[in-house]
Amino acid sequence: MRTTVGIIGAGPAGLLLARLLHRAGVDCVVLESRDRAYVEQRQRAGILEQGTVDVLRECGAAERLDREGLPHQGIELRFEGRGHRVDFPSATGGKSVTVYAQTEIVKDLVRLQLADPGGPPLLFGAEAVAIEKPDSGAPVIRFRREGREETLSCDFVAGCDGFHGIARRAVPADRIRTFERTYPYSWLGVLADVPPSCEELIYARHRRGFALHSMRSPQVSRLYLQVPNDTDPADWSDEQIWDELSARFALDGGDAAWRLERGPITATSVTPMRSFVQEPMRHGRLFLAGDAAHIVPPTGAKGLNLAVGDVVTLARALAQHHTTGSTELLDGYSATCLARVWQAERFSYFMTDTLHRRPEQTPFEDRLQIAQLDRIATSRTASAELAENYVGLPLS
Ligand code: FAD
Ligand code: DHB
Repeated sequence: MRTTVGIIGAGPAGLLLARLLHRAGVDCVVLESRDRAYVEQRQRAGILEQGTVDVLRECGAAERLDREGLPHQGIELRFEGRGHRVDFPSATGGKSVTVYAQTEIVKDLVRLQLADPGGPPLLFGAEAVAIEKPDSGAPVIRFRREGREETLSCDFVAGCDGFHGIARRAVPADRIRTFERTYPYSWLGVLADVPPSCEELIYARHRRGFALHSMRSPQVSRLYLQVPNDTDPADWSDEQIWDELSARFALDGGDAAWRLERGPITATSVTPMRSFVQEPMRHGRLFLAGDAAHIVPPTGAKGLNLAVGDVVTLARALAQHHTTGSTELLDGYSATCLARVWQAERFSYFMTDTLHRRPEQTPFEDRLQIAQLDRIATSRTASAELAENYVGLPLS
């Protein structure tokens, strides 16, 4: 098989890249190791920056998002029994975010791609096992499908295969630098069939640990609890989860001030937290995008949005090469993306570090966290700094 751009991975990065390239008249093929059902039900991100929504709209993939997405104009920070709202539009010249699940974006993009008879092939159950000669003019992806090994010859390879994929590892060790930080806690995430107990997301800092109240729809809540690393979700009964969430979200004044509604929990999972960047994001004709190149801890909701930023930059560069033969944008790809990536790394680290409690945290550090949150609650500048980063820095 042969194509112009071989895309490994049908997560949001790979699927959106395929859509953007197809619209720019550039051939591509998407290889995805899992089956369609698995890819469409994997629970992950839920918050879309304004720029992400705009890109999905521009490429005709936002019909359902525009109908079902929930626009949010702010978040609440909850700490020391008090709630403080951070308003986005007033601090950012009118920007906001949208609650719409990553799984829904994936479903929308898969459906669009498969419904278009002239669209790029999307092969499920096709696991890339090697990228040969990524620094030559003619890289080849070897992949396994239905027990057979096949090859995809391409002009360019887009590694959109997430943190555990093979693309990142296809770059020789002496050509890269990696930057990493792990955290001494994880998130226990739950999906519950109960209307959200709030209109906007609540990020809670509590001495028992962090908690986040998010949502998927007016009927479905998405909640997260900070838990120790290596927690088994089976160790937590539904009642324990609700009790712990209620304790961490509690306001002064108790249930009369605010109450967390409970309902059937339909899914639980535990996610470790990591910051990671591999530089550069290009090796010859192999380009890394999304989680394949970088990971942020989820506090601040940047991962999916960064993946979108990368593929917009990559699609533009590949389209320029296709129409003019110029490599100017391709040559600038890694530096352009990394500038934005490091801003998101900084913000995600800040949100994580300010809101979570480390096992060995000292009383001094407790006070510093509260002082930081008080600062955001009382200073327009500090609040605007959070808002600007949360709604997303401009796509370059
Ligand atoms: P992925 O979604 O990981 O997709 C990679 C794809 O490649 C997968 O489908 C995989 O099966 C496939 N693949 C892997 N190896 C191979 C191979 N060898 N051959 C073929 N295919 C392969 N981000 C936000 O922006 N906002 C949020 O609110 C948010 N919340 C999050 C909450 C949680 C609990 C988690 C875990 C993450 C969250 N994120 C959030 C992060 C976000 O989900 C990721 O950053 C996003 O999925 C990255 O997309 P991607 O396409 O780069 O990678
Ligand atoms: C969600 C996840 C996040 O990491 C976050 O900061 C906000 C919302 C979510 O899954 O809804």
